[in-house]
This record gives sequence, structure tokens and C-alpha cells, in this order.
Amino acid sequence: MSWIREGELTIIERFCANIIKAGPMPKHVAFIMDGNRRYAQKCHVERQQGHSQGFDKLAQTLRWCLNLGIREVTVYAFSIENFKRSKEEVDGLMDLARQKFSRLLEEQCFLNVCFAYTSRHEISNAVREMAWGVEQGLLEPSDVSESLLDKCLYTNNSPDPDLLIRTSGEVRLSDFLLWQTSHSCLVFQSVLWPEYTFWNLCEAILRFQMNYNALQKARDSYMEERRRQQMERDQAYVTKKLQQEGCSPRGAHGDSRRRRTLLQKCTAMREERIQGFLQALEHKRADFFERLCTVSA
Ligand code: FPP
Ligand code: MG
Repeated sequence: MSWIREGELTIIERFCANIIKAGPMPKHVAFIMDGNRRYAQKCHVERQQGHSQGFDKLAQTLRWCLNLGIREVTVYAFSIENFKRSKEEVDGLMDLARQKFSRLLEEQCFLNVCFAYTSRHEISNAVREMAWGVEQGLLEPSDVSESLLDKCLYTNNSPDPDLLIRTSGEVRLSDFLLWQTSHSCLVFQSVLWPEYTFWNLCEAILRFQMNYNALQKARDSYMEERRRQQMERDQAYVTKKLQQEGCSPRGAHGDSRRRRTLLQKCTAMREERIQGFLQALEHKRADFFERLCTVSA
């Protein structure tokens, strides 16, 4: 039997899940699973036991998400900062990851695991990738934009999270998905991660639903502004080209036709450059992982 899917919701949980599902639901939820060590201390068990129970809670939470129709989950499993913890604890977490993540992969589930991750590292890496693209002649400096940066992040295949939940009462993002959560509903809950319940998840979703309209509005107006900025950049590019050709930017009828044609051409060429760059980037990353696997084999 499937490891994540085993065990269904109780009747009352199913009843409440159906009520919640009548409202707008987050499609993608991110978790900062915090409080494993405090839980271990509270229960007088070993730290490793706290992390192990944290992992079991992750499996259970995925089951709840599946039942609620949440298609995608991203978790902060191990921050680059966590390497500063004692060797014993880091080794223990690595062991846990080795033992248990392969079982998660068997599930073919919708889980993104951020391991040895920080958001600033991810963003600065994306900026370096774009600089590489310009250096290689694959991109024009004017192609660099927020939308291109989105595509250079590790999360480029996922929509931004609608809801981010952090447990254990801490009210900061600790360098997790800083770029991707600017329009997400952020919910901070005091419960320690291994004690997380279905009802805690429902509460977080209710908070998302209560703020849904404002979140949508902010996201839509940001996307609109982004389109406007791109249009402005394209117009500026065309104006420069026309000036180079000796045409007047606000000239006669013929000039404005030339302007329209140039604008279409420049947009199509930009799209083409970006596709070429993204393909080259994919190959570069695949090569990197292949080399990494060869070295560690
Ligand atoms: C935060 O609690 C949790 C972690 C640093 C690890 C998160 C990992 C899991 C929940 C298990 C699944 C993942 C792996 C790596 C197998 P904390 O250690 O910061 O506890 P504290 O906030 O009480 O100190
Ligand atoms: Mg912590």
C-alpha cells in the first residue's frame, strides 16, 4: 500500500475538508517545518527522534494536502545555515534524508524538497546565470528582467506558492523562497512541527481564503506592471534602433509603420534569444549534475 496515502481522514475531518474546499484553495503550499528540537526537548527524547517525528509529520501532512486537493508542496528540509549545527546532528539529518527521501520519490508525488538551500544563494545564482548568458552572447543586457530571473530560479517549473506556513512561533522567513513569496499568504503558527495537526492546516487555509481577494489583486496588478515595464523596454529599444537608422521617433506615417514592424521583430527576437539561453542553461545544469554524480559515485 502507498506509504503516503495510507490512512484516510476521519469523518469529521472529511466533512470539514469538503466545507473548506468550497472556497478558493491554494494550489501550492510551502512549509518551514520548524520546532523539531524543541519538541524533542519537551518530550525528553533525543534530537534525532524529534527530526524523525518531523519527517513522519511531513508524510502525514502530504496525505492531508492530497485529500484537500493541494497539488504541490514545497518544504524547507535543510538550510545552508544548518551546516553550522553539530556534526552529529548534521550527520543524523543526512542519514534521515538518505533513509527516507527515496521512499518519498517512489510516491511520484508533488513534493519539492529544498535541501542545502537558501533563497539568497538561489537568487544570486540566477543573477550569475543571466550574466553568463550575456557574456556568452546568448542574451542582450536589455533581456535581463524580473520575468527572466523567475525562469533562472530552481523553482522555474512551479507556480509561486499561494500559501507559506511556518511552525513553532518564529515569525521570519529565514532565507526561504524570498523571491517566490512576495504575493503569497504568510501564516505563522505557534505549534511545533512534529505536533502539527489537520486542524492547524485548515486554520492556515482559512486565513488564505480570508485574504484571497487582496492577494489576487496584488498579484494581478504586479503582473500588469511587469507587462507594462517590458513594453516600455521594447519601445526604448525600437526608438534607439530608429534613431540609428536616421528615422524620426515621432515621424511621418511611414516611420510609424516601420516602428510597429520593428517592435514586432524585436519582441520575437527577444523571445527567441531567451528560449536559446534557457536551453543552454538547461544543458549547463544537466552537465553539472552529471559531473557531480560521477564525482560522488
Ligand atoms: C527545524 O527544526 C527542522 C529542521 C532543520 C529539519 C527539517 C527536517 C524535517 C522536518 C524532517 C524531514 C527532512 C529531513 C532532513 C530528512 P529545528 O531543528 O530548527 O528545531 P528547533 O527550531 O526547535 O530548534
Ligand atoms: Mg528551528
